[in-house]
Amino acid sequence: RGKRAFIAGVADDNGYGWAIAKSLAAAGAEILLGTWVPALNIFESSLRRGKFDESRVLPDGSLMEITKVYPLDAVFDNLEDVPEDIKANKRYAGSSNWTVQEVAESVKNDFGSIDILVHSLANGPEVTKPLLETSRNGYLAAISASSYSYVSLLKHFIPIMNPGGSSISLTYIASERIIPGYGGGMSSAKAALESDTRVLAFEAGRKHKVRVNAISAGPLRSRAAKAIGFIDKMIDYSIVNAPLQKELSADEVGNTAAFLASPLASAITGAVVYVDNGLNAMGVGV
Ligand code: NAI
Repeated sequence: RGKRAFIAGVADDNGYGWAIAKSLAAAGAEILLGTWVPALNIFESSLRRGKFDESRVLPDGSLMEITKVYPLDAVFDNLEDVPEDIKANKRYAGSSNWTVQEVAESVKNDFGSIDILVHSLANGPEVTKPLLETSRNGYLAAISASSYSYVSLLKHFIPIMNPGGSSISLTYIASERIIPGYGGGMSSAKAALESDTRVLAFEAGRKHKVRVNAISAGPLRSRAAKAIGFIDKMIDYSIVNAPLQKELSADEVGNTAAFLASPLASAITGAVVYVDNGLNAMGVGV
């Protein structure tokens, strides 16, 4: 039987989540997506209208099949958490069962189990503000959307993950080195995500034989990254300073995720794997 993957955080064909879906599909996995509720309509209609067909092409020439797209808002664990204004919001009222617990239940009802869980989402409303100017609410929102969202997803999906399964999240080196411009508590959120990767690896490994790893990815011109505002500078910096002087492609992160999800990585858990052309290893720019 082929493996089944749930990838949270895909709303277009530019980000890491899409590339990970493609690499997993190329390796034979069945693909389920979790798409942020406000982005769901555009994503589904673009899919239907064939707007992504060119980027759906796999190495063997076939098109990636997406078995199902689930609406998801990973800052809400269950309906009791959802405030009235969100419930009443047109875009949210148009879909249902999009809290983390409900999505896990829906996937269980539809398919029974999964083998691979991918968290490829982040949000920090004050990301453009320096940490010294970040509000408590902004900081907590970054942690909620970018770190606890992963704890919650794994917590709710792990009961339906098959033993030998694998879970992957995406992080950024701003967690451990100063990257001016990656503000709003996003650097803090990535530090939490990486620490949680280790603790979750222990708990999920002991209890469920599930591996938990993170990929520390280099800069990619995704929708989320463009919103931060310094992505072109980061890409140029990497090309000038990294050991491998080339632009990072999302596929290189996708392929690493496929490796980490496969039996080839059966002894790798609790790891943060750099996929960044080696930039992390540099001490100074040259
Ligand atoms: P992206 O824009 O393709 O993906 C982010 C996704 O998160 C979007 O689809 C957005 O709709 C979704 N999202 C935001 N809030 C959500 C919520 N509450 N519930 C559900 N979904 C929500 O951008 P990208 O850059 O591919 O981001 C994926 C991951 O990669 C993130 O964790 C990001 O921090 C990480 N990363 C990105 C780097 C880059 O340079 N683009 C570098 C290193 C890590």
